[in-house]
Amino acid sequence: MTCRSRCRGKHGKPDVVLGGKGASHRLGKMLSDAKLLDWFSNLDLYKACRAFARLVASSIDRSYPIQDALSHSERVAILASAIGKRMNLPLAGVANLYLGGLLHDLGKLFIPADILLKKGVLDESERAVMRLHPVIGAKFLECQSFFKDLAPVILHHHERIDGKGYPRGLAGEDIPLGARLIGVAEAFDAMTASDSYRTPISVEDAITVLVEHSGTQFDGGVVQALLEELKQAGVTER
Ligand SMILES: [Fe+2]
Repeated sequence: MTCRSRCRGKHGKPDVVLGGKGASHRLGKMLSDAKLLDWFSNLDLYKACRAFARLVASSIDRSYPIQDALSHSERVAILASAIGKRMNLPLAGVANLYLGGLLHDLGKLFIPADILLKKGVLDESERAVMRLHPVIGAKFLECQSFFKDLAPVILHHHERIDGKGYPRGLAGEDIPLGARLIGVAEAFDAMTASDSYRTPISVEDAITVLVEHSGTQFDGGVVQALLEELKQAGVTER
């Protein structure tokens, strides 16, 4: 039985700790405000799979320096599900986006450490290996009954609206909506997080980048939904 069909149930007491300071606190508030925690908490199967996905995500994020209460994958999960809620997606879809955020870089578990953890710029062959991670992650998930709906989302999360992304070069609405959404969430977090490989930029500058690349790299509607969510949650700095 799929996540989508099992993720319907009664509201209950939140059990998820999304506390911490600074960005983590604000992102936690964003999710709490979206009433997602209540909805998630009584769904035993969903909770078990979410816990498993968190465990896997902690391994995926081993390549990131730990400087925040939330890992990169968990922040992407929160951002993606909050954007999905903002776009009025069905709650089952929003819940799947949370899992998709946790597992979006699953394939990196299978990338050799000397490439994954390399400091500095990857050469062409190393970049080609790194770019296999969406394919590997999707292949792994499509074999798992609960997670198989996530496979297309994970496969296409590095596609671009103009068709210049990877691995398939899909364009526009041929890219699954969940993948477009996680792509925007990941880009925002990668630009602004202190544990990014790059020197972080301000939220204001990251918004400028997202807007400038709307319609080419990013889905304009998804970017707009993120901006509205950030504004409502009061996220002005990281
Ligand atoms: Fe990725």
